Parts: sequence; C-alpha cells; structure tokens
Amino acid sequence: MTQQSAQHDVLVIGSGAAGLTAALALAEEKKVLVLAKGTLTGGSTAWAQGGIAAVLDAGDTFEDHIRDTMVAGAGLNDRETVEFVIERAPHAIDRLIELGVPFNKESGALHLTREGGHSHRRIVHVNDATGWAVQSALLKAAEENPNITLLPGRTCVDLITGRHELRYSGAGQVWGAYALNEETGEVEAHVARATVLAAGGAGRCYLFSTAPRGATGDGIAMAWRGGARVANMEMMQFHPTCLYNLEVKNFLITEAVRGEGGRLYNPRTGKRFMEFYDPERLELAPRDVVARAIDAEIKRFGLDYVHLDISHQPPEFVKEHFPTIHEKLLGLGIDMTTGPIPVVPAQHYTCGGVLVDLYARTDLPGLWAAGECIESGLHGANRLASNSLLECFVFGEAAARDILSMWDELDAPPEIRPWDASRVTDSDEAVVIKQNWTEIRRFMWNYVGIVRTTKRLERAANRIRLLQSEIDDYYGSFRVTTDLIELRNLVQAAELIVRCALERKESRGLHFTLDHPQTDSIARDTVLLPR
Ligand code: FAD
Ligand code: SIN
Repeated sequence: MTQQSAQHDVLVIGSGAAGLTAALALAEEKKVLVLAKGTLTGGSTAWAQGGIAAVLDAGDTFEDHIRDTMVAGAGLNDRETVEFVIERAPHAIDRLIELGVPFNKESGALHLTREGGHSHRRIVHVNDATGWAVQSALLKAAEENPNITLLPGRTCVDLITGRHELRYSGAGQVWGAYALNEETGEVEAHVARATVLAAGGAGRCYLFSTAPRGATGDGIAMAWRGGARVANMEMMQFHPTCLYNLEVKNFLITEAVRGEGGRLYNPRTGKRFMEFYDPERLELAPRDVVARAIDAEIKRFGLDYVHLDISHQPPEFVKEHFPTIHEKLLGLGIDMTTGPIPVVPAQHYTCGGVLVDLYARTDLPGLWAAGECIESGLHGANRLASNSLLECFVFGEAAARDILSMWDELDAPPEIRPWDASRVTDSDEAVVIKQNWTEIRRFMWNYVGIVRTTKRLERAANRIRLLQSEIDDYYGSFRVTTDLIELRNLVQAAELIVRCALERKESRGLHFTLDHPQTDSIARDTVLLPR
C-alpha cells in the first residue's frame, strides 16, 4: 500500500537548523511539510556545543572573518560564497534572538567566546549547549506555525523524479520524496512542487564520530542517485577533542575549552606538544592541524589518548562556561576543574556534499539544498569552527526566498507512481545489515581517516565495490527498513568520499596523503559527475 500526499506546496527533508530555517521562511506564504527520520530533534543541530560565528564586536570586521574562514579552508573556499554567508551572519543571530534563543550575555552585551582559527572572539553561544537552545527555539516556532506540518518517523528512501511520473515525458523534475513510515512500514509518496533537502552529514561512515546515529549521508546519496553533482567529499573533518572513554564513544569536548585557555599535553612526556606543530597558534590552530598533531603524538608514542587540561583556570570559571561538559564528565569520574580530560580526534563534520549555488539550487530542477549536506564553497578544504550552523541559517533562508520568488514558474506536480513493493519480501537475514554497517565504518576509519595513502584508499574502494553489489542485491529483494535505507546510503557516501580522495593528487586541508604530501599552487574542487 502506498499513499500520495499532495496537500503541501513544499517538502522539506530534515528538521535541523537548515530544514526548519527554510520551513519558517517558506511558511510565510506556502504550506510546508517537514519530514524527519526518527525524532524531530535527532540531527546534529541539537548536539552543537560551541556556538555560532558572527562579526558582532566593534573591533572585529567581516574581512577578518572572511580571511579566517579562507585560511582554515586552505584556499579551496569560494570567496563569493564566504562573503555571502559572513555578511548575513549578524542578521541570522538577530533572527534567532527574536525566536527566543537565550544567548549568553556579559555586562548587557552578547558574550563572545573563541575557537580555533578565529582571530577574534566572535562566537555567540548558550553555555556549552548552543545547539539544543537553537533546535528548541526553531522547533517551537515551527510547531506554532499553522502553515507547517511536522512529520517525524519518516525515513526518505529516494527523491521522486521524472522517472516516477505516471506519464513520464522525459523532462521531469524533483517532485518530493518516497518515505518509509517507520510505524506502519509503508512507503508513502510525499509529492510537492518544490523540495528542500536538509538531511545533514555523513559522519557515521566512520567508526568514531561525534555525529548522531542518523548522520548516514542520506541526503547526499539521494541527490546523487537523482542525478545531482556532488563535490569535495574527501574533506571529512575530524574534531581534535572527542572524549576518550570506553563506554561513551562520541561525546565532544567543545573547541571553546581550548578557546578559553585549555592546553593539550602528551600524558607520557607531560609536554605541551602543540608548540612542536604550530608554535604560533598552538591549541588554537585550525582543526585539521590540531587533529593531525594529536594523531601524530598518539601514533609516535603508542598512546590511547592525549590530555586536554583547563584546570589552571578557576573552578568557578570552568563550571560557568562549561556546565554541560563538567556535569557529564563528573558522572564518568572526571573532574575537569582539577585534572585533565582524556581526548582523541573523531570524525565531526562533512565539508563536501551536494553542489549548490547562492540560491541553494542544486543541479536538479525542483530541488534546493541547505545545511551539512551541501557543498556551497563556504568551508573549502576545512571548516572554520562555528561556521556550520551559520551556513544552515543562510542557505536555509536562501532556498526559501528563491522558491518563493520563482513560485509561479514552477509546475504543479503530475501524477506519481506509487511505491512498488510487490517484488520484495521481509528479510530473513538482517544480520547482513549489521555486519556491513560495522565493516564500512571500520575500514573507513582505518583506511580513509586523518592520514591517507593511495594503497589504503584503493583497499577501501575494493571493499566498497563488493559491499555495494551485496547491498543492492539485498535492497532489491527485501522490504525497506530504516537500517537498510541507511546502509544503502552509508555505502554510497563512503564510495563518494573514497572516489574524491583518490582523485585529489595533493594534500590540502583535511585531505592529507603520504603519497602526495605537496599542496598544488592552484586549488581545485573535486567534482563528481553523476553517471
Ligand atoms: P541536522 O541537524 O543533522 O539535521 C538533519 C535532519 O535530517 C534531521 O532532522 C534528520 O532526521 C533528517 N534526515 C536525515 N536523513 C533523513 C531521511 N532519510 N529521511 C528523512 N529525514 C532525514 N556547528 C557549529 O556551527 N557550531 C557548533 O558549536 C557545532 N557543534 C557541533 C557539535 C557536535 C557534537 C556535532 C556533531 C556537530 C556540531 N556542529 C557545530 C555542526 C552542526 O551542528 C551541524 O553541521 C548542523 O547542525 C547540521 O544541521 P543540518 O540542519 O544540516 O542537519
Ligand atoms: C565545538 O564546539 O567544538 C564544535 C564547534 C563546531 O563544530 O563548529
């Protein structure tokens, strides 16, 4: 059984910062349906800690923020996009304040913290749990808006494109998405005149990641299968400081800890090692530099972790700035006011993604995209801390404004073929899914991690080929479940990451390979063309 729902003008896939920003702007004129896998707060947005970067201090300038972004991005950024986003940041913060986000203040002004790669204090934040405050404010506004319908528990399987039209003329566009209703097991067709993809990143391709369980690259994989170009997927960001703990495997220790004075030590030698890697910027060098330094120390000394220590600051200062982290660590027997925190790098952010222009348009007519699933040119080869939520607000808004401005030129959706489940049965071998999930995440960590070689990448590519054919076979035979949909996307995202990594014959930003350690004089995007 399949349903076709067409009571909405626009479909938004994803209820994080990007999706809800787009939905709220679209709802000024149109009926909007927002779909989310699992719960409405299950994306990375709710987990963000450090904050949002914006030029708000009298001594700071757009030019400085632009330069910091491009230095971190190792020259791969698109200057026009960087300007576009950074100049819109103060407006985005005003809008969040209007929606009720209670940013920290000091002496009546917004308190600005600092993170790696920033030459000024420019990060607005809500203690060390900014994402939860932002997600809650956006969600409250969306829930109160009569033009927005929020449907959690829907895992999109694929975009609806021309080939799904009942009478395909050969010139179709994106008309929404097929989505699994996680409760009933049915696949529904959610048809719309315009679709905004805001399905987040692909961090779960890696064994160790700070990203939530659902970050399986669904948006990127769906757009790729639909025929959109994808770029710079080799630029996977590893955050330098994820808690090292045998039970809690993905708890981030915000970069703001280093911004407020935290230092990194080698637990074996007791030395503050960043002075050997980046003597000027030390712990506040961009993320790729700090993550590689930690990785090098760990490998050289055979360590399990390094130490992050802020205990030289007064205990009240630490507790006031980092209440969430302090409490979480106390529960694990670590007191950050008196001693160091064991940390390791972990995958954190997907810099590449679906190519979009400044209107958030993808290659596919009818499809716009925003947030972590896009490649807009903002981040280049390495995202500057706290520029990601900002990109979600700016591109979410850009997508909405573009759709509204061209609404009358968009065709009404045709009749769409229902999802065909007649040839599949229930799986009798769900163990395949678990096995393949683990296998992908493990070889991606070992072969496509912080330091790469061509041989390791080729090993990963061979395994991906094998798994892809096994997963396609499984997908063609059995009824879809969320786990299967995610696995199919995970292997697709892994393939795109490895292909991009093999195409880049240099080291730049987050992509470091021992076989090509040089940085070319001209920075080029790795753009993959759909088959
Ligand atoms: P998400 O918030 O990840 O939302 C994705 C949405 O898509 C979810 O609603 C999900 O359910 C839905 N979805 C996914 N697949 C499907 C599917 N198949 N069908 C239907 N729905 C689907 N950035 C900063 O700028 N500052 C920070 O301080 C910061 N801290 C961070 C801390 C952590 C621990 C992490 C993991 C990231 C952090 N980031 C930070 C990055 C930032 O949080 C994310 O890049 C950003 O929130 C992404 O927002 P989004 O709207 O694109 O996606
Ligand atoms: C952090 O708080 O360290 C994460 C900030 C970010 O990812 O931008």
